[in-house]
Amino acid sequence: MSLETDPAALALRAARPTTLCVIGAGYVGLTAAVCLAQLGHRVGCVETDPGRLRAIRAGHVPIEEPGVAELLAAHLASGRLRVTDDVAEGVSGASVAMLCVGTPPTARGDPDLRQIAHAARAAARAATDHLVLVVKSTVPPGSCEALELLVAPERGDVRVTVASNPEFLREGRAVFDFFHPDRVVVGVDPPGSAELVVSLYPAAWPRVVCDRRSAELVKYAANTFLAVKISFANEVAGLCEALGADADQVLHGVGLDARIGAAFLGPGPGFGGSCLPKDVSGFVAVAEAVQHPARMARAAEAVNEDAIVGLVAKIESAVGPLRGVRVGLLGLAFKAGTDDVRHSPGLGLATALAAAGARITAHDPLAVVPQMPGLQFDDPYEAARGAEAVVVTTAWPAYRELDLRRLRREMAGSVVVDAVGVLDGAALSAAGLEWYGVGRGRPLGFHPVVTGPLEWALEGEPASGTAISGSPAGR
Ligand code: UDX
Repeated sequence: MSLETDPAALALRAARPTTLCVIGAGYVGLTAAVCLAQLGHRVGCVETDPGRLRAIRAGHVPIEEPGVAELLAAHLASGRLRVTDDVAEGVSGASVAMLCVGTPPTARGDPDLRQIAHAARAAARAATDHLVLVVKSTVPPGSCEALELLVAPERGDVRVTVASNPEFLREGRAVFDFFHPDRVVVGVDPPGSAELVVSLYPAAWPRVVCDRRSAELVKYAANTFLAVKISFANEVAGLCEALGADADQVLHGVGLDARIGAAFLGPGPGFGGSCLPKDVSGFVAVAEAVQHPARMARAAEAVNEDAIVGLVAKIESAVGPLRGVRVGLLGLAFKAGTDDVRHSPGLGLATALAAAGARITAHDPLAVVPQMPGLQFDDPYEAARGAEAVVVTTAWPAYRELDLRRLRREMAGSVVVDAVGVLDGAALSAAGLEWYGVGRGRPLGFHPVVTGPLEWALEGEPASGTAISGSPAGR
């Protein structure tokens, strides 16, 4: 749903309009700042990068996020949104400072919290009255408590407390998600002091109010569960390939169970982006720190790594040894609707194929990868020109409209691996293309008949007195 078609959401107002500061104007911070202004708050948004600050002040949005530009223009004009590079100016008069800075993963997989510590200290130094630091960034459980201790020397006699309020916005849908949250999670200690943070949002929004460690863990656990679902779908897809079953039908049948749900149950090239991979490794790192095994999270990571390995093997078994083979990649963004290539399956596949000696060309409607100079084309057919195989790695709607006969004419070979399931199998075959996918498309091998406990039935009755566990006779 676009913003324009959803005036009801945009008419929502915060339970109590407040003066607040948002520190960091990236995907999370800028979206939060403009949406909070829309809810009726007076927002001071702090951004220290001079180029980004200039752009935002001029009404230019440095991120690809539908709806943010309109809200930015509206609230620069309404005066409810100010943008500054000075934390003291942003915090002036504010009772809440939201920390929305990056927490990139370290080499060990746990998040680097230096930016958040820096922002918290600066906000505490600038506080003149009771200030609640609200941590929006994803941080390991215990971080809010640690931040409160960290800022203690900076705040003088002023009271500065720290609350957790993780965000669940998806890139490309962040404004929609902001106004339609499944829940608002607020973590505070002591319990009962959540009122100020809770009242930043409309009273009707579902909320979970809990202690800070629990709130921090909600975010890690939610994203890890999404990753587990995706990896489970890919495990089922692999099994479908081995058995000759259709993963789309199987997972459709599974997802219709209301206890399971269809979301994040599609087979594909694995999960990517700036959050899921980082949060799963963060979950594992948190668990390791307290000697907890985190077996599900580790399995989700392992299956995800295998997704790219499996695609390379699939391409190789379809076209032969990859050295010198031209492969056209359609899709570099980690998902449709964004120009973000962080941990993108398309880029992961390009790297793996290049390492195997393949020659890559690529197309993406939005994403530009500086490490691929001269190899990216503005037109998907150009990216496919002369290729032995074409692989679709991002589910851009535009790829559904591809002229498959033209694609076939441009290609040197006929192999199409649709890793994201956007193309029509019958249309591919009609265009003379060989269709492969993840858990769908042309089977790559021989599917053995798996009879398991029914072998006794096929081979004759068991000798009397022989118990066959699991067989009807054994019941
Ligand atoms: C995610 C969370 O959804 C969001 O709550 C959190 O705040 C940030 O991380 P985002 O990174 O924007 O959001 O992407 P999302 O739409 O969740 O997709 C994550 C990855 O999973 C993408 O690579 C996507 O292609 C993949 N995915 C998603 C699948 O492979 N299969 C699916 O069925 C769904």
